[in-house]
Amino acid sequence: MFPNVNYIGNKRKLSDWITNKVPDDVDTITDAFAGGGSVSYEFKEKNYDVVSNDALFSSFVICKALIENKDVLLQPDAFEKMEGYKSTSGKNLEWMKNDLYFDYEITELEKIVNFAEDCLDGYEYYMFLALLRRAMIRKLPYSRMNVNWDNIVKLRDEEYSYKKYGRKRAYHNQTFEFHMMDSLNDYNLAVFDSGKNIKTENLDVLELLKKYPKRDLLYLDPPYPGTMNNYDSFYGKFDEIFGTPEFHIDLTSKKDFLDNMRNIFRLASSYKYVMISYNNSINPSEEEFLRVMNEFGKVTVYSQKHNYQLSGQKTKNKNIERLAIIKMGKKDEE
Ligand SMILES: C[S@@+](CC[C@H](N)C(=O)[O-])C[C@H]1O[C@@H](n2cnc3c(N)ncnc32)[C@H](O)[C@@H]1O
Repeated sequence: MFPNVNYIGNKRKLSDWITNKVPDDVDTITDAFAGGGSVSYEFKEKNYDVVSNDALFSSFVICKALIENKDVLLQPDAFEKMEGYKSTSGKNLEWMKNDLYFDYEITELEKIVNFAEDCLDGYEYYMFLALLRRAMIRKLPYSRMNVNWDNIVKLRDEEYSYKKYGRKRAYHNQTFEFHMMDSLNDYNLAVFDSGKNIKTENLDVLELLKKYPKRDLLYLDPPYPGTMNNYDSFYGKFDEIFGTPEFHIDLTSKKDFLDNMRNIFRLASSYKYVMISYNNSINPSEEEFLRVMNEFGKVTVYSQKHNYQLSGQKTKNKNIERLAIIKMGKKDEE
């Protein structure tokens, strides 16, 4: 079973519905915006060949660990080895001090990161980093890395949180290692071999499509223009620990959105199908988006009610989730 990876905007609850809509003549799938990996995982479970991709390293590590990895488990003794590990040089994470975490937590984080860099490799390394990513998120109010420090301090005060929200949220104040150990079993249980070809990439969507120009189905769950879709700021600080994030096109820019999507569809013109997740409240409007899709083939749209709650908000957003499938090619070629 796919574990809870704590990923904003994940399609975990919809992944069965989405993957059941894949047409019968599909064997090979590219998931261009794989994010937390929930849809890629379901494609893997349903025996497709899968390429799962994301521009962020923080998503790449999840997909390496839980999608591409078919048989490597992370043993608890990795954590015992870490106990005796003394890092002398390596990554300095001072810049995160009083920005995301307290001073004493940075000491623990540096030790964990440097241990991973020096002592682990292959899928063990990715399993470890995927667990670290979740631990970092669990320790942050609102489960994202773009909350300002004053707010973090306030919300991590258990008394304040209890008085104001009726919940202490004590898990924010547990160690990184506690959270990693807490999820270790679930992550290990999720690893399996489907017997199919599974590959994980860390590319901008346009580069990805140049590398994989012809497969059966391209699945797109991009970040849409709007305020709660800035994945670079949600998780980018994890990427900064391990290297400078690469350039990628910005799908959250409203003015460029339709042109960007046109470029993606163009590069996917040798695919049999492109399948797109979106909801009825997107901006540019659904009508405009469908007009663009229609330029590339015959479009079928499915709908599903989906309530989700943004952390920090009291009311639920009542959205209708859509899934459009473009059968690529000129309509009169049918
Ligand atoms: C809505 S999330 C995908 C959620 C995913 N379906 C799941 O179930 O977890 C969109 C993802 O697109 C990635 N992304 C944004 N711009 C990208 C680009 N130009 N190329 C590749 N990935 C990109 C973000 O990092 C984010 O993880």
